[in-house]
Amino acid sequence: MRSVNEAREEKIHFDFLRTLLQRNHKTIILVSVIEFKNATKIFGSRAVLDNLNLQIDGGSWVSLMGASGAGKTTLVHALIGAIPLTFGDIMVDGYNVTKFSSSALQEYRRKIGIVFQDYKLLPKKTAYENVAFAMEVCDYSYSQIKKRTMEVLEIVGLASAPHHFPHMLSGGEKQRVAIARALIHNPRLIIADEPTGNLDPVSTQGIVDLLTKLNIEGVTVIFATHNTQIVEKLNKRVVTLENGKVA
Ligand SMILES: Nc1ncnc2c1ncn2[C@@H]1O[C@H](COP(=O)(O)OP(=O)(O)OP(=O)(O)O)[C@@H](O)[C@H]1O
Ligand SMILES: [Mg+2]
Repeated sequence: MRSVNEAREEKIHFDFLRTLLQRNHKTIILVSVIEFKNATKIFGSRAVLDNLNLQIDGGSWVSLMGASGAGKTTLVHALIGAIPLTFGDIMVDGYNVTKFSSSALQEYRRKIGIVFQDYKLLPKKTAYENVAFAMEVCDYSYSQIKKRTMEVLEIVGLASAPHHFPHMLSGGEKQRVAIARALIHNPRLIIADEPTGNLDPVSTQGIVDLLTKLNIEGVTVIFATHNTQIVEKLNKRVVTLENGKVA
């Protein structure tokens, strides 16, 4: 049975995708700097985020750690504007995410690619269709969609399997499709929430290598994980959440 958290995350994911499919975008946000300022999220009587302050510079890598329930997913959901803060602010390039109008939110989300532990692929669509879907309702031509979809499948090393359905793909390959979909709009920020949680060590390394390559190319990466081995090997900034704050 699906947990409440899974159902909640799924809804947030599809709401996120839906905003990508809407029109009227300008391009002003580059995700040069992200600042959480006294960010507080209270669920019931518990402050899951408690006056949290955190700055993430554009182009950097942050491994987000902390015990289960520490608030990693809550933090990323607030960052994408999927849940409101109880109080505090999240500033991106000086814009206050918590005060975005729906059109500013659309534009902002186009700069973000998100990837989850359970891939969230549509089971009846092929790898190609799962990726192309994120462009379809926009004003792109068939040839533009085809070109970009094949480009991102190439980046993740899956250009030879565009017609495979998710059930024909390994976990690592499914996650590559999810990353390809996240890349479709050329995001400035990738948020990967436990992207390797269901993968074996070899596939895990493949996904981490892929995210590292994107980070080297200038994409900011927020990588929420429980995998201390990977984090140690990465040798990059680690932000650990504890009692609603950065430990
Ligand atoms: N919409 C919500 N309503 C009520 N409580 C919530 C909601 N979303 C999250 N929580 C609670 O907030 C706490 C933090 O959850 P969150 O999912 O952010 O933790 P996490 O660090 O991502 O954990 P994990 O490592 O298990 O993914 C949990 O106790 C969770 O049940
Ligand atoms: Mg989580």
